[in-house]
Amino acid sequence: MIHEIEFAQWDRQRQSRAALSALMARHPAVVLRNVPPQPRHQLNICASLGPLVGKTPDWGGRSYLPELRIESDQRINPYNRLWHCDTSWAQTPAQYTTLYALDAAHNCAATELADVATGFAALPKAYVREIECWRAFHHVLRSRQTRFSHIEPAAPAPYARSNRWQALAARWRLGSTMRAVKLAETAPPGVLHQVVATDTPTGRQYVLLGEHAWCLEHLGEAASVEALDALTDACVGQGAVHRWRKGDLLIFNNRIHLHRRGDGVEGRRTLRRVLVLPA
Ligand SMILES: [Fe+2]
Repeated sequence: MIHEIEFAQWDRQRQSRAALSALMARHPAVVLRNVPPQPRHQLNICASLGPLVGKTPDWGGRSYLPELRIESDQRINPYNRLWHCDTSWAQTPAQYTTLYALDAAHNCAATELADVATGFAALPKAYVREIECWRAFHHVLRSRQTRFSHIEPAAPAPYARSNRWQALAARWRLGSTMRAVKLAETAPPGVLHQVVATDTPTGRQYVLLGEHAWCLEHLGEAASVEALDALTDACVGQGAVHRWRKGDLLIFNNRIHLHRRGDGVEGRRTLRRVLVLPA
């Protein structure tokens, strides 16, 4: 279930910076409707939840500008059809993913969320005892070499110059209330995460898996993918589907949800992604 709020109402109430964190602890997926398109609105809301994931150095190189990543279905991306946890390849994966619909045709693809905390809670006790000691390597390229060996690696998306200027303009408007941190990438085989983890804001246990998890510490590659996919399948039964409208800002807990693009890409959909790290 995705909790809905009208942006104008939220803005008019001038909610404290703690209000959204408290709301996200109660409703792990929230959509604000009719948010204006300027990035500063999305960034201001995100900054109240924690530090943002940064991309490029600020002037002087002492701090980072938040990443404003544009994701468009104009380029078919086979990877986001799979359940995944954004930046699970990092030592500290994003706590919240926020997606803003710059453009959303009525027949564009939905975003699907699977509640893997509820899924974990429903696993048989014997299975839980078995997986409690599992650790998995997460690495984007290594995972894609294993899972998508039949696909030519996609060329990196062209650098969108306007994003840097938009981030700079937002920093100027929002000042020190907005902090961004660059995530360090790890060499193959990647970051080793415990498969069963606890989400700090909600206190719920969940499974940390998704597309970037490619190998279990105690198994070979082929057996790992099989075991990881079986566990994912067992945990993704409960969830929600968000059907996009232009101006939607979807915010969800990226730890206790896996997410993916739904079927159907007939209509154009352009989303702007900002990630939030734990506070
Ligand atoms: Fe994603």
